[in-house]
Amino acid sequence: MEHISDKLQRYKNYNFVIGYTTAEHIDSLQRFEIRDSDVFLVTYPKSGTVWTQQILISICELDGGLNEYKNNMAQMPWLEFSEFGEDFSLRPSPRLFTSHLTPALLPPGLVDKKAKIIYVIRNPKDIAVSYFHFSAGSRLLDTSQRFENFLEDYLNGKVVGSSWFDHTREWHSKRNQYNILFLRYEDMILDLKTAVKKICTFLGKNLSEAAIDEVVEKSAFKTMKTDSKANYDFLSETKVKKGGFMRKGKIGDWKNTFTAAQSDRVDRLLQERLWDLSLKFIWE
Ligand code: PPS
Repeated sequence: MEHISDKLQRYKNYNFVIGYTTAEHIDSLQRFEIRDSDVFLVTYPKSGTVWTQQILISICELDGGLNEYKNNMAQMPWLEFSEFGEDFSLRPSPRLFTSHLTPALLPPGLVDKKAKIIYVIRNPKDIAVSYFHFSAGSRLLDTSQRFENFLEDYLNGKVVGSSWFDHTREWHSKRNQYNILFLRYEDMILDLKTAVKKICTFLGKNLSEAAIDEVVEKSAFKTMKTDSKANYDFLSETKVKKGGFMRKGKIGDWKNTFTAAQSDRVDRLLQERLWDLSLKFIWE
């Protein structure tokens, strides 16, 4: 691991928080045994991870047969953090995992197309603003007082998760190798029930209409904000400020922070770097 700032370390072209993983742990993921029943949630940071965790956990709970854990982070641990120190091979199926990693760093066993991956993508301007506020309230991450400094790091991939452009390109260009469902954060905001139904169909879960409504209710921003298992306030304040994971939950908040020139710059980069993927974003 090469330290690239006070808080960031780099390994295999990817940036991690210092102290939360090791090169040995990341290497060990290449030998991690995947089960057909495993479900992975993969995101670039600030794209709706904790929200989708809550949706997935609620679906699996209502479907029955899910072991109980003390909170959503324990129920759906990030595979890349070695700090858990848990032997996941001892977990009963179905196992739920979370990750911000790129395809090359995740277990190769995911490529055999049986285990399922849900990838959530969010527009990169709202991610930038969300990430800026989150970093400011986190003792684990480099903190910029000024948005323009953070934006520079974000666009240059000098943040945890590395470059949003690379992450998006890698997952999109390798999508055919995986059993993967792509969801857009903005579609989830605009019609959560339809998104929940899509996830149920993908997971092969046949929930009743009432159960689907219950998942929607449990995953609403205002419900999650006060749900102590889901809102991540259980993380010690020495790591992340209370409320740090549940800020606004809106589309288009970037307009309150970006200048016109910053917005044009992201548009230009999108055109230059991802034009061939034909991605469509909802900006407001
Ligand atoms: S992390 O650190 O990568 O796990 O963060 P992540 O969970 O991916 O992203 C946090 C943003 O998701 C918003 N969020 C929600 N939006 C809508 N509905 C619900 N239920 C919900 N839960 C979390 C959260 O508010 C962060 O976005 P911003 O724009 O900062 O509000």
